[in-house]
Amino acid sequence: MHQVWPLPARPIDEDALEELYRYPVEDVDGSRWVAVNFVSSLDGGIEVDGRSAGLSTPADRRVFALGHDLADVVLLGSGTALAEDYPGLRPDARSAERRRRHGLSEAPPLAVVTSGTLPADATSLVDVLVPSIVVTSTAASAEAQEAWRAAGARVLLAGDAAVDLPTALARLAEDGFRRIDCEGGPGLVGTLLHDDLVDEVRLSIAPLAVAGKAGRVASSVEPLEAPRGFEVASLLVDEDGTLLVRYVRAGLRR
Ligand SMILES: NC(=O)c1ccc[n+]([C@@H]2O[C@H](COP(=O)([O-])OP(=O)(O)OC[C@H]3O[C@@H](n4cnc5c(N)ncnc54)[C@H](OP(=O)(O)O)[C@@H]3O)[C@@H](O)[C@H]2O)c1
Repeated sequence: MHQVWPLPARPIDEDALEELYRYPVEDVDGSRWVAVNFVSSLDGGIEVDGRSAGLSTPADRRVFALGHDLADVVLLGSGTALAEDYPGLRPDARSAERRRRHGLSEAPPLAVVTSGTLPADATSLVDVLVPSIVVTSTAASAEAQEAWRAAGARVLLAGDAAVDLPTALARLAEDGFRRIDCEGGPGLVGTLLHDDLVDEVRLSIAPLAVAGKAGRVASSVEPLEAPRGFEVASLLVDEDGTLLVRYVRAGLRR
């Protein structure tokens, strides 16, 4: 794998990769960093047959692993949790060593955003090493909340009629979840962009074209009132042809 940007271009080893993909919560603003991780095809599709696996490459998997290895929490929309049958993270020996070195907990919990329809037997709630967090609003039924708690999850209520993501992320940060690895999907990322909560987008572009009606990185009923600006923070290219781009919100230093 080679670093193309920032210059000078050079081969990049695991330590340098870890430095590029760490969450700069100590460097910028002190508080919280939300990094959105996505793999896409060269023609902008983000799934094959409803899942991302058909697009992923070894290079994407390397940085995807760094995303959760260096995070305090992994944030997901319930659509992705269900479509991908997402289990909790179980760090292997290498990931565990990395987490210890960075002073992180044993494993980052999943925080799943739902209006209330997430089933209590979802893999993301029951197949976990550490309890997941259901991020929802007070509009979620008492029965649903009780069922999530009975499944072992913690319930974070933010907002009344709808989930209030600025409040939810502020509460997570208060609880020490400051390095936030958002692993999708498009509906959640659309709301995060609308609410101006995305600090970084980590995009892996696989050398594949898929056409069809595949979703895209962010979606919402209406487009944003004005496009959000980002700057390229790093660009890597792997021997397999995958491009790994990190975009940071315009105006942030990293
Ligand atoms: N290529 C990649 O890297 C990648 C990454 C992630 C996902 N994907 C793909 O994306 C697809 C899923 O897309 P999606 O748009 O359904 O994903 P999503 O954003 O994960 O889920 C959308 C659902 O999450 C809940 N939700 C999200 N934001 C919310 C908010 N602000 N407030 C309340 N609830 C919220 C709602 O479900 P409720 O009904 O529970 O309210 C909503 O219908 C799958 O095909 C998956 O493979 C690809």
